[in-house]
Amino acid sequence: MASRSAESAACSGLVLGIESSCDETAAAVVRRGREILSSVVHSQIAEHAPFRGVVPELAGRSHLREMLPVVDEALVRAGTSLDGLEAIAVTYRPGLIGSLLVGVSTAKALAFVRGLPLVGVHHIEAHAYAASMEHELEYPLLALVVSGGHTALYRMSSPIELEMRAETRDDAAGEAFDKVASMLGLGYPGGPAISALARTGDGRAFAFPRYRPRGGELGFSFSGLKTAVLYALRGQDAGAPPPEPEQIPRRADLAASFQEAVVDVLVAQSLAAARAEGLATIAVTGGVACNARLRERMTAAAAELGLRAVFPSPSYCTDNAAMIAGQGWHLLRAGRLASLDLDAVAR
Ligand code: KG4
Ligand code: ZN
Repeated sequence: MASRSAESAACSGLVLGIESSCDETAAAVVRRGREILSSVVHSQIAEHAPFRGVVPELAGRSHLREMLPVVDEALVRAGTSLDGLEAIAVTYRPGLIGSLLVGVSTAKALAFVRGLPLVGVHHIEAHAYAASMEHELEYPLLALVVSGGHTALYRMSSPIELEMRAETRDDAAGEAFDKVASMLGLGYPGGPAISALARTGDGRAFAFPRYRPRGGELGFSFSGLKTAVLYALRGQDAGAPPPEPEQIPRRADLAASFQEAVVDVLVAQSLAAARAEGLATIAVTGGVACNARLRERMTAAAAELGLRAVFPSPSYCTDNAAMIAGQGWHLLRAGRLASLDLDAVAR
């Protein structure tokens, strides 16, 4: 009897995913890489908001407090237990080292005591995979990952084979949203706040720069744009004290024009990459993929060229563990298992 239930767990197709790379403690149970049975995310936004950014020390402590309750809840919501799992997948890179360690240690301990296979997942590659859970996608495809820490284009030839084609030379798109939001006196995280304010502004009011690499190459840069917003705010004296948020003239126009510049660059580079690579599908993922204007513009621009743009639902764009469990299943199938000396890697 015991051996039969062990056998059925071994082919249940259920993978527990664990994610703790930044400021979300998350666990999820996904069947065969796509069927999301549960996805629990404990966000630390309220804890970090007073500091207008993630405080690594606070993040690590919060993950320690929340991890086991979040894992329990994911198992209960999925109607299973550790005994029903086929494997455990965990984000092991990149991220804040103290945060990653909490997830990695938890996954290793659970895998060890239950004798379950362990899979280490790369956070950015899992973001790229996220669109594949909710859409029928054919590979190869182009993945644009736009998050708080990364902005990159990948050629994806399978759910687990990715080759980077371009990345940002400086800030990530989400980081630019967060910094500009902070300049405008908006809350953290900045993306949703800018997106909301931009709805009442004119996206053509300020002619902010759009970065384009020389010689038709691919690549992103957002630091020049960020500085341009700073000059628009404070005049030529960027060292001047910041105006009080309510006294910033044309705040909505600034937000809308900034957003338009980011979206222009993301759309232009994605289409150029898709054309250069001969790819028909663009999967846009990561927290910034929640942005309504980006979704609208990318969808329309892709359709004009006969291409298809796909996005995960917003809750699978931002950090979550379903994408970890989902891609973890494919890594498991490919025999790419981790050993119990799996290490967390910051970069
Ligand atoms: O993927 P994610 O949850 O975490 C990282 O791996 O970084 O992305 C978080 C980022 C933040 O910078 C946040 O401001 C941005 O995604 N973001 C948005 C929107 N929602 C979240 N940016 C623009 N528009 C949004 N609606
Ligand atoms: Zn992320």
